[in-house]
Amino acid sequence: MWNYFNPVEIIFGKNRFQEVHNALKDKSYIIITHPEEIFKKYSDELNTSSNPPLAIMTEVQPNPDYKDILELQKKFSSIKKNVDYILAIGGGSVTDTAKAIAAFKENQEYLTDFVRNKKSPKVENPIKIIAVPTTSGTSSELTCWATIWDKEKNNKLSLAHKTLYAEKAIIDPSIMVDKPLGLTISTGLDALSHSMESIWNINANPVSASHAIQASKLVLENLPLLSKDLKSVELRSNIARACVHAGLAFSNTKTAISHNLSYPITLNYGVQHGIACSFTLPIVTRSMIGIDPVAEERLQSIFNSNLEVGSSKLSDFMRSLNVPLNLNEIKVPVQEWNNIVDDAFLGERGKNFIGNKESFTKSAQLMGLY
Ligand SMILES: NC(=O)c1ccc[n+]([C@@H]2O[C@H](COP(=O)([O-])OP(=O)(O)OC[C@H]3O[C@@H](n4cnc5c(N)ncnc54)[C@H](O)[C@@H]3O)[C@@H](O)[C@H]2O)c1
Ligand SMILES: [Fe+2]
Repeated sequence: MWNYFNPVEIIFGKNRFQEVHNALKDKSYIIITHPEEIFKKYSDELNTSSNPPLAIMTEVQPNPDYKDILELQKKFSSIKKNVDYILAIGGGSVTDTAKAIAAFKENQEYLTDFVRNKKSPKVENPIKIIAVPTTSGTSSELTCWATIWDKEKNNKLSLAHKTLYAEKAIIDPSIMVDKPLGLTISTGLDALSHSMESIWNINANPVSASHAIQASKLVLENLPLLSKDLKSVELRSNIARACVHAGLAFSNTKTAISHNLSYPITLNYGVQHGIACSFTLPIVTRSMIGIDPVAEERLQSIFNSNLEVGSSKLSDFMRSLNVPLNLNEIKVPVQEWNNIVDDAFLGERGKNFIGNKESFTKSAQLMGLY
């Protein structure tokens, strides 16, 4: 028995950014986007159209922080008209910020209650979102949750609510050709991690698994090619498609142990999300040997081999992209790592993992983590 659900309309293809005009025709809306110059042409295009936005908010930092979102809420409260839509043009940080504003609007106390007072999020009639992703990694355009960081309190929260799916995701690979190498690799690996994490997951189902297998294969095949040909719209398109499949997979399962392990690595050691949540994938893959025949078969079909061979194929793939794969390279002391592992297996995402700590630790030794 299983259920599958994803309500987001996907509009995919080269130059389909143009469809924002139709989607927002006669609607009142604001734009949330990154501050860098390269994003200005998209908001400019709308600003000079017959239906300009009520406001353009560009104060979004990577890994959106509670304090930054409070500031945006202040700005939002100065808009005196009704806002029907938020157009989010950017990576996961922008889409997640848009979800926080859509959910809490100008009510700073709702955000504070959720982030600092551990209350369930108070989400009433959120503003509709149209998401235009500029990275291929988080799939936030296809999930109903947002990551909010509270750097001051060394915390990471997941704002999740079934009303926070975007109405439409306009995925235009031609927008992604300016992504630099490091960001291309880390976001591509984030999509791979979402896919694999949705397979070794207590919430996996046949539909999520088939999306996850497809996504993983597309990343393994296309990311090395794309890393050598960053301007290729065709390869960008293949990775964007991988990210769609990954989103359709993990929007129904959430993530698992590799993501739980990643949070302190990002917060305390500054490792980018996509690297932090993927450097353990070869270890977890190998740790799945003999754990669950269905998951094992799904993972084998990604690599066309058993998981001993599959995990070393995955290590080689990551090495070829210069991803750090051991604690020395990640710069995490062993004792600290052991604490991170203990906590991760007890964490919310860690509990989604169908494997176990003994097998993980043995695999980490065999794969040369220490
Ligand atoms: N909601 C979810 O389901 C979900 C899932 C995974 C991760 N996340 C969160 O998403 C955030 C990371 O998002 P991200 O990896 O997409 O990166 P990001 O949105 O943080 O962007 C990183 C940097 O890349 C730049 N950038 C974005 N698109 C670009 C482009 N096309 N060309 C050049 N530069 C570009 C941005 O200006 C920014 O400086 C983290 O906070 C992470 O925790 C959310
Ligand atoms: Fe992720």
